[in-house]
Amino acid sequence: MICLGNICRSPMAEGIVRHMAAVRGIETTLDSCGTSGHHDGESADPRSISTMAKHNIDISDLKSRKIRISDFDEFDELFVMDHSNMTNVLNLARNEEDEKKVKLFLNEAFPGENREVPDPYYGGDSGFDKVYDMLYRAADSFLNRIS
Ligand code: 4NP
Repeated sequence: MICLGNICRSPMAEGIVRHMAAVRGIETTLDSCGTSGHHDGESADPRSISTMAKHNIDISDLKSRKIRISDFDEFDELFVMDHSNMTNVLNLARNEEDEKKVKLFLNEAFPGENREVPDPYYGGDSGFDKVYDMLYRAADSFLNRIS
């Protein structure tokens, strides 16, 4: 799960998929990261943590990290939140095989529509609730596909 800062959208996506997979008994290898590295080592944004806590999911232990080239080797699919993330990650791809792994996460729920999870960082708390709902739908569809 990849966004810009790895403190808002992608840690929420990681928490939702991890939680939902555990509830459904699906094994996944999952992580999240950001393209910028500006928040390296930081916890998720307090608004992300509190939004997730409303749904009884604890992401307070997650720490931001920057994407690594080895992520292309370690993971089968690299899910990005918006088109800007997509461009940033595709710029790191070494070959066509890497490029094929990069996908917009909301396309899981809305195939082919290329919808984005909007960056909630500069907005109010309601933006985080909307992000949660979008990520929940995508996570549900994703886990249905792989299970
Ligand atoms: P995220 O949100 O990419 O969903 O983690 C952002 C977090 C921080 C910044 C931008 C977006 N920032 O500019 O610091």
